Amino acid sequence: MATDPSDRAGRSPRRTATVFAAVSCTALTLLAASCARGEDEAAGEQDGGDTAAQAQVLDEAAGSDETCSAEQAGIEEFDLKDAKVGFSQSEAESNPFRITETASIEKEAGKRGVELITANAQSDFAQQISDVQDLMSQGAEALIIAPLNSDGWEPVLAEAERKQVPIVTIDRQINGDACDDYVTFIGSDFVEQGRRAADQMIEALGGKGEVAVLLGAAGNNVTTERTKGFKERVEENAPDIEIVFEQTGEFTREGGQSVTEQLIQSNPDIDGIYAENDEMGIGAVTALRGAGKQPGDVEIVTVDGTEEAVQLIIDGWIHGVVESNPRFGPLAFDAHESFGKGEEVPVELIISDREYDADNAEEELPNAY
Ligand code: AHR
Repeated sequence: MATDPSDRAGRSPRRTATVFAAVSCTALTLLAASCARGEDEAAGEQDGGDTAAQAQVLDEAAGSDETCSAEQAGIEEFDLKDAKVGFSQSEAESNPFRITETASIEKEAGKRGVELITANAQSDFAQQISDVQDLMSQGAEALIIAPLNSDGWEPVLAEAERKQVPIVTIDRQINGDACDDYVTFIGSDFVEQGRRAADQMIEALGGKGEVAVLLGAAGNNVTTERTKGFKERVEENAPDIEIVFEQTGEFTREGGQSVTEQLIQSNPDIDGIYAENDEMGIGAVTALRGAGKQPGDVEIVTVDGTEEAVQLIIDGWIHGVVESNPRFGPLAFDAHESFGKGEEVPVELIISDREYDADNAEEELPNAY
């Protein structure tokens, strides 16, 4: 990644929205549609679409300078309006991140009058591979994939290449060669999310204490990078914080709860919990409540920005949340539209994330999902 992430850490949502408008209206053709949409949103879109404060905002300083065009990828140009698009969702829609992500893709397809076919793999990777193959058999001419795992996509990539079906991946990465295997990845800087979560934890604990990490599911870049950013920042800036416990809660509420129940048995005086998504953080709160703990007894920092987690900041149970914005519809369809027209699309589009804490949770609650 070509940027100094510290630039992103301190940027307020309002400033990034302005930056996005500037970028979308100048540098990248891909973003021309976003520019027009940004103007509507600046006026406060009221037609059921996302408001400016909710919409994804591209971080103009991040991402890749490398681009991909239909010509480079060896794919014929197409008009997205006439194409059938396939969307493959990775995880069950009990997590608001997944509900909002799917809704955003469906809403954007509807807005553009694009035919959309969808599948949900319910956290089963073999199922996701067969889902995507099935979407192609049903005639999908362009794909949007929210991958469960980052590796293991070879059968899909080979078939997509043979059938000339361009792939946009969202929220997690597929390990492969940009432009050969997929057009672009759209998502957050997950290492930076981990660093920002560490900053919140260091602040909450005054730089001292014992911390547990509830890891996300294994096998994807999001878990690896959120862990890396958190640990590195703690090591650099808070030598008196010790990570004493690490276990996966599989990105689920039930997982977060049961892992925290074990944690309280082995480390009853734990000072902080870093949960790599809100669902696990909310599960941790349930476990702490069950153990008779009070809000603030254990400092909790999470990632996502769901309504329930932001409400738990207001209630005093969660110290802070680093956002991961799942409203991918507009950018994902912009990417396919530009690519179909033969334009150059950056092979990595990084969005900027807001942050919630006790100072802004009440005001920002309407922007949570
Ligand atoms: O890949 C994004 C992560 O996956 C979200 O943070 C989480 O809620 C989901 O399970």
